Amino acid sequence: MQISTTPNPSQVDDARLAEILANPGFGTHFTDHMLTVEWTPEQGWHDARITAYGPISLDPATAVLHYAQETFEGMKAYRHEDGSIWTFRPDQNAARMVRSSRRLAFPELPVEDFVACVDALVEVDQRWVPRSSTGEGAGEKSLYLRPFMFASESFLGVRPAQHVTFMVIASPAGAYFKGGVRPVTLWLSETFTRAGRGGMGAAKTGGNYAASLAAQREAIEQGCDQVVFLDDQEFRYIEELGGMNLFFVHADGRIVTPETGTILEGITRASIIELAGKLGYPVEERKFSIDEWRDGVASGEITEIFACGTAAVVTPVGELRSPRGDVPAPARTDLTMRIREALVGMQYGRAEDSFGWLHRVC
Ligand code: PLP
Ligand code: COI
Repeated sequence: MQISTTPNPSQVDDARLAEILANPGFGTHFTDHMLTVEWTPEQGWHDARITAYGPISLDPATAVLHYAQETFEGMKAYRHEDGSIWTFRPDQNAARMVRSSRRLAFPELPVEDFVACVDALVEVDQRWVPRSSTGEGAGEKSLYLRPFMFASESFLGVRPAQHVTFMVIASPAGAYFKGGVRPVTLWLSETFTRAGRGGMGAAKTGGNYAASLAAQREAIEQGCDQVVFLDDQEFRYIEELGGMNLFFVHADGRIVTPETGTILEGITRASIIELAGKLGYPVEERKFSIDEWRDGVASGEITEIFACGTAAVVTPVGELRSPRGDVPAPARTDLTMRIREALVGMQYGRAEDSFGWLHRVC
């Protein structure tokens, strides 16, 4: 894929950039450039270009605004101590976007083109990749990357779009949850599910997040950080959070994580399954019920629970609140923090990349 670059003539100056990178927050500041590629049936993927970051103009009849034919990815670029910049398993994000594209009736963007697009934007905007801090919140800063694809055809008929746009934008990021690494409080939704059999649960598509918002609003009203979704058939088995996968650590060292099918196949989840196995903690992927959660915490059989995802990294889970009664926070967080450091250490180049998961951008 040929990617043209037109530099932004009015880039953020160094002083303002330093100010942003000192305290980036999450998802509020954007880099100087963005990448765009178009697709039509006649031309395939074409006109890949990096231009100044800015608003895009859409016809009010643009299909994505009506029927939500959209898919996105979330990944990060990390700066190592020596200044080099790396991404983590970008081929896995590319492959997941291909799977999401199939579910959303999109054309497929080849894995190597996806990776080339992300690399090109990160390279152009490399001064936006923060240096990782040390001490409190160490390893939290990175450049969050958001590749996304949407139906850009102006047409109100319901069918797969004949004009599709793929874009990549980038945003310097600190901790996803305010207050850094601390146990998050969860709300169990008994009203809403986010996915069902044959639905889009395994695809990373905006509709799933739209479906999660009423439940997320309930969570916020209950003073909780995130929602836990249950299965749509029995409202009994744990699926995942609005934006993270879950793991349950048992006293005997076993770890259980809900099986895939209707949940997002998290790349952090897949990586932790391998990492934990290597650390001597085998992970079982299976159905895991809310009763097992409640009883396991009560009996002390469940010692730790954690959530994981690109944005949230690895985060201990505290109390679960639910209309059926609350479940207190598990007793410990030490294995959670060990797994977190094993992952983050690799991403920031402090630990050996024994799986070959890191990809050097520049
Ligand atoms: N589940 C949902 C619903 C998510 O939005 C995310 C975040 O991307 C995850 C799980 C974790 O996926 P990953 O580890 O690939 O970021
Ligand atoms: C990610 O972790 O990349 C996500 O997309 C989750 C979202 C809550 C920001």
